[in-house]
Amino acid sequence: MKFYVIYLCLVVALVRPTLCKDEKDYVSKDSSALPKADLHGTTLHYHYESEAKLFGPAEETFHISADVDVEYIGDGFVNYLDNNASSFLMFMRNVFVQVIKGNGTTSESEAPLSADDLYDQPTWFVQLGNGTIAEARFTKKDLGNTDVMNFKRSILSALQTNLVRDKENVIETDVMGTHNSRYSLTELQFGEIEVKKHVSSKDIYVDNNTDLDTDEVDIETDEVQRVSGGILTSVSGHVQVFQKPVEQDDTTANPEEGGNIDLGVYLTSNVTFTLTLRKHVKRSVEGVQRIEAVANAQFQKRSLVGQYDQVSGVYQRWTILRKKFDKEDKLSQAVTNFMKDPTDPSKCM
Ligand SMILES: *[C@@H]1O[C@H](CO)[C@@H](O)[C@H](O)[C@H]1NC(C)=O
Ligand SMILES: *[C@@H]1O[C@H](CO)[C@@H](O)[C@H](O)[C@H]1NC(C)=O
Ligand SMILES: *[C@@H]1O[C@H](CO)[C@@H](O)[C@H](O)[C@H]1NC(C)=O
Ligand SMILES: *[C@@H]1O[C@H](CO)[C@@H](O)[C@H](O)[C@H]1NC(C)=O
Ligand SMILES: *[C@@H]1O[C@H](CO)[C@@H](O)[C@H](O)[C@H]1NC(C)=O
Repeated sequence: MKFYVIYLCLVVALVRPTLCKDEKDYVSKDSSALPKADLHGTTLHYHYESEAKLFGPAEETFHISADVDVEYIGDGFVNYLDNNASSFLMFMRNVFVQVIKGNGTTSESEAPLSADDLYDQPTWFVQLGNGTIAEARFTKKDLGNTDVMNFKRSILSALQTNLVRDKENVIETDVMGTHNSRYSLTELQFGEIEVKKHVSSKDIYVDNNTDLDTDEVDIETDEVQRVSGGILTSVSGHVQVFQKPVEQDDTTANPEEGGNIDLGVYLTSNVTFTLTLRKHVKRSVEGVQRIEAVANAQFQKRSLVGQYDQVSGVYQRWTILRKKFDKEDKLSQAVTNFMKDPTDPSKCM
């Protein structure tokens, strides 16, 4: 059985289990790239907020907020030097997660939980002069936690942009995989640029050895970014996952697909997020210290594409489903039976 795994933990990221293939290099019209910002010795203080609404019978909203500090640490290295690349270290602080149950009229919020201990590691990334994020590197602690890496990947995806004028279709890689992104750039006043980005499930390259399954759901994502003096000053966007209309006849429901348990309903979600530059400042003494403190840390390169452990992903999905059905004995029984023997149709109600 194939699933889209939705990360309830810290981000709702749609992912594929395989690492991305080598990206094909193609020549871009970088002559029209916007001028590069001078970021030497500076820190970009961003604030991230997101709200992940999960639809279906048990409505839940996850509210996540975090401070994201991006430290410029130099030009890109070897492979990227001629691309006007920059290297950064990303640090996260004040990471809070709050769960709100209910549908707005009857909502109960739990107290926000701090996740700072999970996010105490820096992440190294390289951004090319054209806005593409070319590489991400994680420390050993993060390599042991896929959810943490995926959340960081989703923030890096938000930082990825297109600073090349007149180039509307870009193949890029982010947390969703390798896909086409449709961009449009509008010059605003005072050198500010508005960058719009759109991706839908149709734009995602599905290679034939992955489990990307768009049978049940469609994805639409939109982002509006503001760039000023070559620096990304804000991003706001949403990722909508919605159910495809069901064509097949209910009476022929395939027990291998979970009988009459409609998974699509549980996969429907809407994530909205903003990443806003609050301050762009000369690096503080603390900033210098925290960079020095990680000088000897070992970073390892990993794909920007979200990953998941297939076995535990399926397991998590079922655990969540079971919990939701717990209120309804009959359904709970069906799910339990299904899990015992997914091939026996008589056990699926
Ligand atoms: C690097 O930046 C300069 C100045 O902004 C620009 O003229 C040049 O085309 C850029 N090169 C590449 C490869 O992006
Ligand atoms: C919200 O939930 C309550 C209680 O479950 C229900 O009575 C109400 O109709 C729901 N409202 C909407 C807009 O779905
Ligand atoms: C930026 O340059 C890289 C390397 O040349 C290329 O792969 C990527 O598609 C370009 N991105 C944009 C937005 O032009
Ligand atoms: C699967 O991959 C092979 C080799 O890369 C390719 O020839 C084939 O067209 C692919 N099939 C599909 C359905 O994408
Ligand atoms: C998702 O959120 C965006 C932004 O708030 C909104 O425009 C859109 O209508 C929402 N979609 C659904 C299905 O609720």
